[in-house]
Amino acid sequence: MVDSLKKPSFEELRPGIKVPAKETILTPRFYTTDFDAMAKMDISPNEDELRAILEEFRADYNRHHFVRDAEFEQSWDSIDGETRRLFVEFLERSCTAEFSGFLLYKELGRRLKDKNPLLAECFNLMSRDEARHSGFLNKALSDFHLSLDLGFLTKSKNYTYFKPKFIFYATYLSEKIGYWRYITIYRHLEAHPEDRIYPIFRFFENWCQDENRHGDFFDAMMRAQPDTLNDWKAKLWSRFFLLSVFATMYLNDIQRAGFYASIGLNARDYDIHVIEKTNETAGRVFPVILDVNNPEFYQRLDTCVENNAKLTAIANSKTPKFLQFFQKLPYYVSNGWQLLRLYLMKPIDVTNLEGTVR
Ligand SMILES: [Fe+2]
Ligand SMILES: [Fe+2]
Repeated sequence: MVDSLKKPSFEELRPGIKVPAKETILTPRFYTTDFDAMAKMDISPNEDELRAILEEFRADYNRHHFVRDAEFEQSWDSIDGETRRLFVEFLERSCTAEFSGFLLYKELGRRLKDKNPLLAECFNLMSRDEARHSGFLNKALSDFHLSLDLGFLTKSKNYTYFKPKFIFYATYLSEKIGYWRYITIYRHLEAHPEDRIYPIFRFFENWCQDENRHGDFFDAMMRAQPDTLNDWKAKLWSRFFLLSVFATMYLNDIQRAGFYASIGLNARDYDIHVIEKTNETAGRVFPVILDVNNPEFYQRLDTCVENNAKLTAIANSKTPKFLQFFQKLPYYVSNGWQLLRLYLMKPIDVTNLEGTVR
């Protein structure tokens, strides 16, 4: 009894292979796109920058970075109970998100090979990086006697289709937010080594540079397709993607505050910092960014957090399913309303700042 409390049990596909977490609106997604449209893309308006980025990818600065060292070779049973469950969940979510990047970039590299060799090589080299990242995380899971069957995941997960331009907005933001997430954890643990309870965080400094370069690639791609940045639609889409990425992260992380607490971070402060930095970074390429310093921004997100807690309580209650629906309805409506109001909040136009601090 005590043992089972200390070591949470996970559902397994086969011994040691974890059943993937159930897909919800907040779990990492897999993407697919219109490969022909991507292949036909004219990148000449920004070809020089894209070539420079390709050279960076070829240099492969992290070639020797992802090697597990002696510090991993010990029992991690000291991380137990709820912390262990949260750790495994963090590793699984990160591994899935990295693997999602790998799959998309790999497929783009393959499909563009003959039609657009420059882009194809960029995608292949980015998929190389993501394979390393997800592999390293999966290896970390094995320290907790689990792993993910990535082949199974490839076949069993749903794929979300996005037109190329939406792939650019979404992946640009996920790479840049990934950069800020990793570097913020790294810097915090650098200042507080006593909170570094597991060695993977030591790898985040060089790791996040990969994500930063990937983000720069999508920045350059959007500049090569000026219509993704220049018109009124671009402004609306920028707002939409910024809000979706920020809200998803915030709702996910606040629910998992225990994980951040286990490494000495306050989840809310951490997210506010990451959102502020990512928003600022996005201002270098997007025509508008969100007014995240307006108190209304987090007030509304916090209402969504409370609604989600109530939704979970209802789902876990013994009330019959059809009654649960009616209990849940007001909270769904409230979430929709909050997100709509957040979307309609006056954004910050950054097009006039071109060439200054951007
Ligand atoms: Fe990555
Ligand atoms: Fe990446």
